[in-house]
Amino acid sequence: MNDDAQSSHGRLIIVSNRLPVVFERTGEELTFRPGSGGLVTALAPVLRDRGGIWIGWSGLPESEQQAVDKLLSDSSVASGYALRAVPLTPRDLDDYYYGFANEILWPLFHDLQSHCNFDPSYWEAYRRVNHKFALKTKETINEDDFIWIHDYHLMLTAASLRELDVRNPLGFFLHIPFPSPDIFIKLPWRFQVLHALLSFDLVGFQTMRDKRNFVQCVRMLLPDVIVRSEGAFHIMRHEGNEVRAGVFPISIDFGEFERRAKSEEVAKSAWYLHEALPDRQIILGIDRLDYTKGIPYRLQAYRNALRRYPALREKITLVQVVVPSRADIPKYHDLKTEIERLVSEINGEFTLSGWVPIHYIFRHLTRGELLGYYRTAEIALITPVKDGMNLVAKEYIACNIENNGVLILSEFAGAVAQLHRDALLVNPYDIEAVADALHRAFMMDQDERRERMRRLRAVVKRYDIYRWVEAFLGAAVSRHLFDFPMIAEYIPPEDAPDLGVSI
Ligand code: G6P
Repeated sequence: MNDDAQSSHGRLIIVSNRLPVVFERTGEELTFRPGSGGLVTALAPVLRDRGGIWIGWSGLPESEQQAVDKLLSDSSVASGYALRAVPLTPRDLDDYYYGFANEILWPLFHDLQSHCNFDPSYWEAYRRVNHKFALKTKETINEDDFIWIHDYHLMLTAASLRELDVRNPLGFFLHIPFPSPDIFIKLPWRFQVLHALLSFDLVGFQTMRDKRNFVQCVRMLLPDVIVRSEGAFHIMRHEGNEVRAGVFPISIDFGEFERRAKSEEVAKSAWYLHEALPDRQIILGIDRLDYTKGIPYRLQAYRNALRRYPALREKITLVQVVVPSRADIPKYHDLKTEIERLVSEINGEFTLSGWVPIHYIFRHLTRGELLGYYRTAEIALITPVKDGMNLVAKEYIACNIENNGVLILSEFAGAVAQLHRDALLVNPYDIEAVADALHRAFMMDQDERRERMRRLRAVVKRYDIYRWVEAFLGAAVSRHLFDFPMIAEYIPPEDAPDLGVSI
């Protein structure tokens, strides 16, 4: 932590939709264990040293709230910092979480306005629940605490806190993309959301493009706001408040992934996975079930590669892991059906005795299985149609301890800004180009693989999650923007090498 960040004496209050723990009920007993997210790993030491509280939803029904509160108050000392749960009713869940957050903001901010369900009742629920989070925060904080609010679920919470007369400094980080003005203006509540975001003191984005989109929306829709740039920040004056916008590309705990990937357990798991698929390169796709991840296009590209490059048959296997998510939303259900149809079509077209082209896994993997796949896969195929960052790309790199993997990465993942020099970049909609990239990755010699992976590993190692936390908190208490040298906006070059190989 730098001096600026340390010089703030207040505690750190994190507010996010979900708490960073998973609750489990077995009969009478309610327990919880730490979640696997990188955010909690990075924030836990800061929360412990500086003192802090994490506020969020438990993931359990409201009827469990008393038991959750009791459990959390008993265990606060053990974890070193406190957790506080915000109860959500079934209606809150339907209209705020599934509704406004995941049927409006999620698709719209990923440029998929045709997936939006602009149901007016969702807005009321979004306001109500953001206010609920603000009330819980107000009852929890001291005067000199720094409050850091996360993600698209809680964009109105700062405005609510100000209405409740909370004067503490307020930071916000958006984990997903911010759309361009042409898309953002489709949101029926565009002015309210933009005004609310201007109630924060510091607003962080994943990429330059997201920050630029936000600034352009402010300039277009709120012409009275005075906008100026100062170094890498944009500063906006609005109704007496000054809000700064900066870029902070999120990352992972590189050291921890690398250490775990080197463990005996993962080495064994990697060995068994490859032993079951001898003489072939494993191509790995791992995603939450989500239409932003571009899984159907990826499967079509894989089919295209098998059709156009027959030499790949029996020499590659696509392991596509899909982790169940947001199953109550119809679009997610439809996507699952579409993926399963494509997988069976492709396997039906190409399977030979002893070779199935796609291994499809629809479940949560254990940590050991996940790291085993990361460590052993020769190629990672990460082709979202839009993604805030995509931490799978960074996790794959951290676990690639033999330096022999090739990363194929979508131009529309936030991670491209930092990884574009050494990943093979693709437009996920261009299924022929993705097929060509697969063929190129398959053919890539060990020297080129090693060189590229070595450089990718150096970037992810240097700009890890600890650096990200330090950067955001440093910017929150001083006017200093941590130097992220690799955040320049990625623009596809016209003279990009042609990945195609004539056959
Ligand atoms: C994205 C969002 C997170 C969210 C996660 C899982 O990464 O940015 O805020 O927690 O998806 O989605 P879920 O709806 O299960 O929380």
